[in-house]
Amino acid sequence: MRPRDFALERFFARWEFEAEMLLCASDVEGWAMSEVLDLADEEDRRAWQDLRLGYTDSHGDPQLRAAIAGLYESISADDILVFSGAQEAIFGLHNVLLGPSDHSVAVRPAYQSLAEVGIAAGAQVSRVELHEADSWKLDTEAVRAALRPNTRLIQINEPQNPTGGLSDRPTFDRLVEMAAESGARLVVDEVYRFLEFDPDKRLPAGADALPNGVSIGVMSKSFGMAGLRIGWVATRDRELLSRLAAFKDYTTICASAPSELLALVALKARDRVMARNTAIVAANMPLLDGFFARWAGTFEWVRPLGGSIGFARLLADVPVDRFTEDLVRDTGVLILPGTLFDDTGNHFRLGFGRTNMPQALERLESYAARTLR
Ligand SMILES: Cc1ncc(COP(=O)(O)O)c(C=O)c1O
Repeated sequence: MRPRDFALERFFARWEFEAEMLLCASDVEGWAMSEVLDLADEEDRRAWQDLRLGYTDSHGDPQLRAAIAGLYESISADDILVFSGAQEAIFGLHNVLLGPSDHSVAVRPAYQSLAEVGIAAGAQVSRVELHEADSWKLDTEAVRAALRPNTRLIQINEPQNPTGGLSDRPTFDRLVEMAAESGARLVVDEVYRFLEFDPDKRLPAGADALPNGVSIGVMSKSFGMAGLRIGWVATRDRELLSRLAAFKDYTTICASAPSELLALVALKARDRVMARNTAIVAANMPLLDGFFARWAGTFEWVRPLGGSIGFARLLADVPVDRFTEDLVRDTGVLILPGTLFDDTGNHFRLGFGRTNMPQALERLESYAARTLR
């Protein structure tokens, strides 16, 4: 079965490069090539000059896999499979793990492929709803109630898109226990990991938490290098990895050689990369705090706990789809209506990982002053 259109990606295809400013992007400000190459040591600089543009190791370059493994506690290079972005990893995982006799549990609202790929594979997918009134917290009892004897996969995303929510440790531990007891596999989309506002609240990685647990990672979001299209699956379940590798032979086969090397350079300099990226988010958050304080009664949000996005709500009596369209046409500023996430609560996604967020927010605010007051 063909998956339904990916509503968010179709919307971005329409607006992303036409809008002047994205106030909804989920990736941190993209790095320039020159900035990444400046991070390279002598050896990698030489490797860049001598790089040959042939096919690459279909599992991912061994050095890159070792650098990715360094993000985890119990993972080695052989527990990593490199994909072209997290999207390909999701596509592979859900196709390999789910078929017509299977069931999975996925939260809502969420990044669409985390449920849609399983549906297209013929599986039944139960959605566990996140509620703003509960601060978008994941209710583990709702997950438990959704489990069936044929549940193969519990799919979560921490920190979460679009809410910016992050489960607390007891919640995560309960999910780990539930997965271990039920035999369902815990798959954690961790593309916003390392952007937790309080690093002490960072959760263990899915791949570290359980022998068959899975982590999905990517260079796009926290690391600010979406154009590399380098993502990965980490798991100690080697049988799953080899099924995934066989699946990938029908999608991209292997990753791009320049991208693999640039990802390696960035991961070797991870502390510097993340210092720059977390500083951008940290500078933007107080501006959003001020905005929501000034506009209480018109806009509200549950302050995110991590990542580079949050899910705000337009309380004025204007449908968010119309507000979005009028806003971008009038000001060039793009927000993302919650309807793209099947949300009916007049929410919209805000992104705060970009350096022009202050200017974009100013334009939103003056537009709101003209049209909503
Ligand atoms: C939760 C989540 N997972 C996966 C992806 C896909 O990442 P990429 O575009 O780097 O493949 C995204 C992108 O927005 C996302 O938000």
